[in-house]
Amino acid sequence: MTPNKRPEVNIGLVGHVDHGKTTLVQALSGEWTDQHSEEMKRGISIRLGYADATFRQCPGMDEPDCYTVEEECPDGSESEHLRTVSFVDAPGHETLMATMLSGASLMDGAVLVISASEEVPQAQTEEHLMALDIIGIENIVIAQNKIDLVDREQAEQNYQQIKEFVAGTVAEDAPVVPISAQQGVNMDLLMQAIEEEIPTPDRDPDADAELLVARSFDINRPGTTWDSLVGGVLGGSLSQGQLSAGEEIELRPGREVEEGGQSEWQPLQTTVRSLQAGGDDVETATPGGLLGVGTGLDPAITKGDALAGQVAGPPGTLPPVQESFTMGVNLLDRLVGSEEGAGEIEEISTGEPLMLTIGTATTVGSVTSARDGECEVQLKRPVCAEPGDKIAINRRVGARWRLIGYGTLQ
Ligand code: GTP
Repeated sequence: MTPNKRPEVNIGLVGHVDHGKTTLVQALSGEWTDQHSEEMKRGISIRLGYADATFRQCPGMDEPDCYTVEEECPDGSESEHLRTVSFVDAPGHETLMATMLSGASLMDGAVLVISASEEVPQAQTEEHLMALDIIGIENIVIAQNKIDLVDREQAEQNYQQIKEFVAGTVAEDAPVVPISAQQGVNMDLLMQAIEEEIPTPDRDPDADAELLVARSFDINRPGTTWDSLVGGVLGGSLSQGQLSAGEEIELRPGREVEEGGQSEWQPLQTTVRSLQAGGDDVETATPGGLLGVGTGLDPAITKGDALAGQVAGPPGTLPPVQESFTMGVNLLDRLVGSEEGAGEIEEISTGEPLMLTIGTATTVGSVTSARDGECEVQLKRPVCAEPGDKIAINRRVGARWRLIGYGTLQ
């Protein structure tokens, strides 16, 4: 794969369970990255739930017919590479909102998949759109899926419902593209909309590397002998800068260590031993797409997502570690996402536990002081973050955490 075929932008796939996100990625990507056999490749794609898709264009054909994922055009000529995108799958199940929220921090834009055969909005359609709004993902395309299951009149009614639902939200002006992911209908129109609405962000090539760690794992099979053990692997995406094999990196907040009866968080230092991007081993990685970073860390430290939510970069360049902070609070007008507990959202009160998502980190915080429009929280696990960062705020309502608003780190 030549460098320009590597993914350069991360596009989230969001929407209610069973509305067709997985089917859509399959239709666009053809090959799944998790078909690669090696452990690291498998680990990254399975654990991050993603697949890369290369959009191509047939020269001499009009829009939208020119857009394709095939290498061969209808007239037998070869199609031209436009760009490779990385689809980040956001689970549609209600219990996985925290996963969706932390995945959203890696997204440069999103495709909201809405089934044409159901009433709009379904619970997680609404909750996911709210999350995009909160995290500030503005480049959105709406895929009105499963149009093969409805007649024209139903499709039009459903379209009206979608337009009413998105009115006043971040997706108000998002194009709505009718598709059938299963039958491969209108994939060209959808690609055109993605090309137009979700550009590859401008990135500063000289910025210090900042890797948002979404997963971490141990790729050694049980029973591996010490002389063939491989160091711990980090999975995530660069929000800025470049990372190269051989580089020294620091991870923050790092690890909790006990010293003289006191526990303290200390950054972890290690070396980048290998890099994988777009399913290939690479020497240098850039933003866009998900990476596997082989490190010199003891795999026992990276096992089981233990370092998910951390930030990695050159030593001394990362944002500070916060164990407690004050945040400005903006509550939603009402609870979205299910009937349970529907209604107005009460103010945050002193002493209540909140689940907070900051970047890829999810942590529980206890409110030590709540005032009008802001509150102070003490975190169970510290985060690496800086003033101005957005925080998704969840409160326990009934049996689960529900999104109630957003905060801004002060
Ligand atoms: P989660 O990942 O569990 O949130 O679900 P999902 O949104 O990825 O849905 P998935 O792609 O698994 O599709 C759910 C079901 O809908 C499957 O049985 C698909 O075959 C079917 N499906 C998806 N797209 C279409 C479509 O365009 N038309 C029809 N008729 N069925 C579809």
